[in-house]
Amino acid sequence: MIHFSFPSRFMWGAATSAFQIEGGVTEGGREASIWDVAARDYPDRFWNGDTPETAADFYHRYPEDIASMKELGLRSFRLSLSWSRILPEGTGEVNEAGLDYYDKVIDCLLQNGIEPFVDLYHWDLPQALAERGGFKNPDIVDIFRRYAEICFRRYGDRVKLWSTMNEPSVMAFTSYLNGIYPPYERDMKGALLAGHHMLLMHYEAVKLYRSLRLDGEIGAVVAFVPVYPDTLSAEDRDAANRQFDFVCGWWLQPLLEGSYPESLLQAAEIGPHLPDGSAEQLRERFEPMDMIGLNYYTPARCRYEAEAFLSSTSVENFYAQSDYGFQVYPQGLFDSLRYMKDRYGNPKMYLTENGFAHDSVDKPPELQIDDDDRIAYMREHLRELHRAIGSGCNVHGYYYWSYTDTYEATSGYRYRFGLVQIDYETQRRTRKKSWHYYRDVIAGHTVD
Ligand code: NOJ
Repeated sequence: MIHFSFPSRFMWGAATSAFQIEGGVTEGGREASIWDVAARDYPDRFWNGDTPETAADFYHRYPEDIASMKELGLRSFRLSLSWSRILPEGTGEVNEAGLDYYDKVIDCLLQNGIEPFVDLYHWDLPQALAERGGFKNPDIVDIFRRYAEICFRRYGDRVKLWSTMNEPSVMAFTSYLNGIYPPYERDMKGALLAGHHMLLMHYEAVKLYRSLRLDGEIGAVVAFVPVYPDTLSAEDRDAANRQFDFVCGWWLQPLLEGSYPESLLQAAEIGPHLPDGSAEQLRERFEPMDMIGLNYYTPARCRYEAEAFLSSTSVENFYAQSDYGFQVYPQGLFDSLRYMKDRYGNPKMYLTENGFAHDSVDKPPELQIDDDDRIAYMREHLRELHRAIGSGCNVHGYYYWSYTDTYEATSGYRYRFGLVQIDYETQRRTRKKSWHYYRDVIAGHTVD
């Protein structure tokens, strides 16, 4: 059998986010985030009316989960901080109990030899800030800077891997353009404004990090969706590129180069709706980061269609689909990393998410544990990752999404991504077969 070895300091990780695992939403002085309020007020927008109220109860059970991560051999754990625990109103009074909680989690990780990778923000805006206009309010930039400063000063001595935010594309599209996440808006201008503020928030937080002279790495996590042209015609290729610029380039280029992609500035559907002076603002306020996190799950395919948005329309891919609806295309991972190498000069990268879900409606819990399909998914993606590293891509870690089963925005507890199963009635943890598989991969530093 052929084995593919990974670089010696490679970060074997797993990822999660605060509202998706913590629960304890009213404990320790925490106030509501947008998810608590949305799930309460619009239960029909969440599968089964599920709320994040208890989730995997990581709030109480982190010692047990971290002990099990240690047994797995995990080198790094990616988690996010709940803004509403630290600043219950988003701004104003600091909640010492919230800060303490993350002190304990971070210390527990370090005591177990696990490097924390911390996202300042993973989609869970404090409700109080949502009521002040959320990301469309320009004040959010300064408000976030203050939140970031509190976190950097408190944890910067121990946390060496930081991301300012997770998947700003999803935050902007689904909340302000597609009306799927709170505040359920559908307005291009609003989405571009919110997105622009997210970029400024990121720059300011990176600048601040630099000014504090902390000795870690800081970056941002971007959802990477390679968009393939349906045919090799020039029209289809341009259409695919435009779509890619909209889905990914809108974030990659500002984050890495301080400018919006030209194709977006030129597009009648976008350019005129960008906030006035935004291109200049990016140029002036740009601050380069140390690394970029990429989340890779699924590719897309597009062809030219004159009347469509950006004259580009999606066509079916015909790859296998996971239950979650993501298409499984491991080579897309190789292509994505190569793209980053060729287009952006090979920045330092981490694969911050990649994962596979079962649909708990179709698959009873006892079958979810015997997850050969997840193992095949991981193996195929790790091979492609190894191939990318072999071809010179500057990738330093792999974070499987997710360590335990999680709460998903809108689909609640329906889809199960975890290496560890959660029985939400009893909070009992059961290791899936893939947990054991990943342990062997990490121990051998190799994928077969
Ligand atoms: C990406 C997001 O970062 C995460 O929150 C989500 O659970 C996974 N995708 C799976 O949908």
